[in-house]
Amino acid sequence: MKQDQAQKLRELYQRFNHDQQTRTTKVISITSGKGGVGKSNFALNFALSLIESGQKVVLIDLDIGMANLEILVGMNPKHNLIDMVEGGKSIWDVMEKGPNGLELISGGSSFNEMLDLSADDTNYLFSELEKLQGYADIILFDTGAGLSRESQRCHLAADEIILVTTPEPTAMTDAYSVIKILHHQDANLHVRLVVNRVASSKEGMEIAGRFRTVTKQFLEKEIDILGFIPNDSHVFQSVLEQTPFLLNYPKSQAAKWMKDIVKIYLNGDAKSNNSTGMKGFIRKISGFVKI
Ligand SMILES: Nc1ncnc2c1ncn2[C@@H]1O[C@H](COP(=O)(O)OP(=O)(O)O)[C@@H](O)[C@H]1O
Ligand SMILES: [Mg+2]
Repeated sequence: MKQDQAQKLRELYQRFNHDQQTRTTKVISITSGKGGVGKSNFALNFALSLIESGQKVVLIDLDIGMANLEILVGMNPKHNLIDMVEGGKSIWDVMEKGPNGLELISGGSSFNEMLDLSADDTNYLFSELEKLQGYADIILFDTGAGLSRESQRCHLAADEIILVTTPEPTAMTDAYSVIKILHHQDANLHVRLVVNRVASSKEGMEIAGRFRTVTKQFLEKEIDILGFIPNDSHVFQSVLEQTPFLLNYPKSQAAKWMKDIVKIYLNGDAKSNNSTGMKGFIRKISGFVKI
């Protein structure tokens, strides 16, 4: 009984705060072709850098069974989205506070099964996720490599997609395949490219330029270039130390370039294009789910 009351109070408090500061929420889905290109490190440090720039960010880990983000940030979340549905918890119960105001939601280890849940469970999941509308400025989904059925739905439902690749030909080819598949399902997707582990900005520009030319020529798809992250041993070191490089080595090249990316992102059209936010995300993703 006492616990019930505490939970209700917590929800009321969250809702109160929420109502006080309703925001335009943008949903960003992060993808790559090949795995191991630095997607999770990008998602985490991009989130932290956005927060440093005054954005309220919720980071959701949908890389099923990998628990990547919580390890990278040295957290051990008590609950995840699966517990939420199975245990009837609210989204506020499964959202964990991380460093510097980061708010993280762990996907748990069997999200694939989740979308095959009963109609009631699915509705419950979506109604809880929808509460994030207006709560954060940006909701970031980190997904697994390539396109699972679920991650595909996530990308198609998001306001925009950040595609992470490295200069490796295999990573580039796989990244192209991902965009090709998504583009054939929705030609209006807003895709921004990040080239990670570049030797120089010149290399980044060459790689991104080449990618852009190919998607334009073969798919008639315009892709924005968001930026580059250098190959930097501080990233590897931060993974070992389970502290994001933005916090651990804020003066590293990787951190500096990340801050530049965020500056460009926030000064660009990030705010101005028509985001449908979490409400639109739920509407679109629900359309794919058999209920
Ligand atoms: N910019 C970088 N510089 C150096 N190493 C990097 C960089 N980005 C990623 N890495 C290395 O690649 C590994 C995989 O990164 P991760 O973010 O887990 O990839 P993904 O989520 O795409 O599978 C990291 O543990 C790190 O060692
Ligand atoms: Mg990952």
